Amino acid sequence: MIKIKKATKAHTETLALLARTTWAESHGQYIDDKNDLLTYLNKNFSTSRIEQGINNPKLLFYIVYVNDLPVGYAKLIVNATNKYVKSQYNCQLERIFILNDFIPLKLGKQLIDFVEEKAKSLQLDAMWLTVYIKNNRAIRFYEKNEFIHVGNVNFVVSGKAYDNIVFSKRL
Ligand SMILES: CC(C)(COP(=O)(O)OP(=O)(O)OC[C@H]1O[C@@H](n2cnc3c(N)ncnc32)[C@H](O)[C@@H]1OP(=O)(O)O)[C@@H](O)C(=O)NCCC(=O)NCCS
Repeated sequence: MIKIKKATKAHTETLALLARTTWAESHGQYIDDKNDLLTYLNKNFSTSRIEQGINNPKLLFYIVYVNDLPVGYAKLIVNATNKYVKSQYNCQLERIFILNDFIPLKLGKQLIDFVEEKAKSLQLDAMWLTVYIKNNRAIRFYEKNEFIHVGNVNFVVSGKAYDNIVFSKRL
């Protein structure tokens, strides 16, 4: 059975491990220097950083469970501006990550539909995100879910720039 729950302080450790593991699984291969990867993981997915995020009212985290196991999550930033996105009432889908073992279940669609509904319920009318140009599966997924390529930005990991696409969608 699939459930999606909003993360609270009680989910801090679960979310930190899920966030770290999914990022390493899906993006670790792109980072040439493994020390850079470790630095990025340690900085961004510590329990203190995740707890700060959960406590920030502008950030919304949702965890997806399969038979009560946490297998993926999404992170939404409310009112995150981007020069390529015209709407004032927008949000950034900063992260949507499923553990590798559970990717065959195709949970992405349920999770993205869920966060889009949440965003609409907050009166937001646009959602944007960035995706690494080599992440073909995610690019295909966003295109299928009607996101439009509106620009390009650099995503910096330990001082190195990685070319990312900006996708946006009217809600
Ligand atoms: C991105 C993600 C949330 C999408 O969820 P999902 O449930 O896997 O998505 P779907 O299966 O509906 O769609 C993926 C599509 O990419 C296709 N695909 C899979 N591998 C691919 C590849 N290497 N190249 C191109 N397309 C690929 C799939 O066939 C599918 O398209 P189809 O439905 O037309 O066959 C999920 O794959 C994930 O968590 N990936 C790892 C983390 C990640 O990269 N997150 C995004 C960061 S921006």
